Amino acid sequence: MPGIDRLSFYVPKYYLDMKTLASERGIDPGKFYIGIGQEAMSISPPDEDVVTMAANAALQCLEGEDNQTIRSLIFATESGIDQSKAAGIYVHSLLGLPSTCQVFEVKQACCSSTMALYAALDRVARRPEQKVLVIASDIARYGIGTAGEPTQGAGAVAMLVSAKPRLVDIMPQSGSFTEDVMDFWRPNYLDEALVDGKFSIRMYLKALTHAWNDFQNDGGAPFAELSRFCYHQPFTKMAHKAHRALRNLANDDQEFHNSILETGLRYNRRIGNTYTASLYINLCSLLEQEKDDLTHDKVGMFSYGSGCVGTYFHGAVRPGYHKHHFGDIHEAMLDDRIELTYDEYTSFYEHQLPIDGSAYSIDAYETGAFRLAGIQEHQRCYERSAACAAALKKLHGAA
Ligand code: CAA
Repeated sequence: MPGIDRLSFYVPKYYLDMKTLASERGIDPGKFYIGIGQEAMSISPPDEDVVTMAANAALQCLEGEDNQTIRSLIFATESGIDQSKAAGIYVHSLLGLPSTCQVFEVKQACCSSTMALYAALDRVARRPEQKVLVIASDIARYGIGTAGEPTQGAGAVAMLVSAKPRLVDIMPQSGSFTEDVMDFWRPNYLDEALVDGKFSIRMYLKALTHAWNDFQNDGGAPFAELSRFCYHQPFTKMAHKAHRALRNLANDDQEFHNSILETGLRYNRRIGNTYTASLYINLCSLLEQEKDDLTHDKVGMFSYGSGCVGTYFHGAVRPGYHKHHFGDIHEAMLDDRIELTYDEYTSFYEHQLPIDGSAYSIDAYETGAFRLAGIQEHQRCYERSAACAAALKKLHGAA
């Protein structure tokens, strides 16, 4: 069964503790820590964007892979950097992927990563000897002082999709729901998303209900067969709201154990919203943080993209999965981040690239293997760090 062969994520080196934001806004920190379930949010410095985060996530995911087998790179984002050129082409170039690898970008808010995954599954089902790299990368950004501000974040996830996956088989049944609504959107002329917060939560739950029913009609696993659940997480409390709704829908009267959701929420609680990447960071957290053996467990997954589309599907965890994840690396990445003061956070937030295309160089901050160095004649210029040379050598040496 085709599925996810490798899964890695990357977050910027900086974060804002929710206590800092709460104190500045005169809000009880319990509202953020408990009410929305967030401890911190990842903040990208001026020299990181969806491309640098994506390339870093993929670098980890591709270690030890024969790149010649990767015939497609599908990039999902809702904070894209160009109206025409796919951000994935920069990633393709930064990683030195073969010219025979086709690159394209997909969009439907946070759900586009799931559409990218499904496109990848179809491709490897037709050509089992090939692999597809799916990358979801986003910077979640709302206005300063708005209700959305505590639900920001930044990060990227990379998934290698293959016909014989080492982590999770993705089953063919799925259910979808689409409706034209304005719960969250970002017009081309704005850097921040516009959102009707309470309405967006209602739409998320409505989409979950309909997508679940459609999933059941499509022959998807009944609730009682699913032992774990992953959700798109704009904030981790949303996963609890969603799971409560799903249990009601399935008339589940068994006692709820927090552990069913909890290990899957650990990374998101420290990262914040990563839009397209969020559901798959939830899956990553589950596979890497759960102490119980998940082999053959069926995992229900709900993907929600405002606007809106919801999709329900499920996967089954492969035997030996724990030998193929990057749990230690991911935990160290989160532990090693630098905490921002409130003023540093606002200065990162306020940084803007020139919009007249004039030459502009960006100060160097702490980044992973890649950084955005500046702008030249309307073009983004990326750089590889010294650490990157060694990582790329490892990557291509394996081929
Ligand atoms: N201690 C503990 N809990 C507290 C508290 C305290 N001192 N003070 C308040 N709370 C609780 C509230 O009771 C509430 O809990 P419930 O939701 O369980 O009722 C929770 O904290 C949040 O409080 P409010 O509802 O008052 O929060 P708010 O009005 O400031 O807005 C929000 C919350 C709507 C999520 C807002 O942050 C927002 O608009 N975020 C962006 C939109 C979003 O994330 N939408 C989610 C669905 S859309 C989607 O999923 C796509 C996407 O990625 C954007």
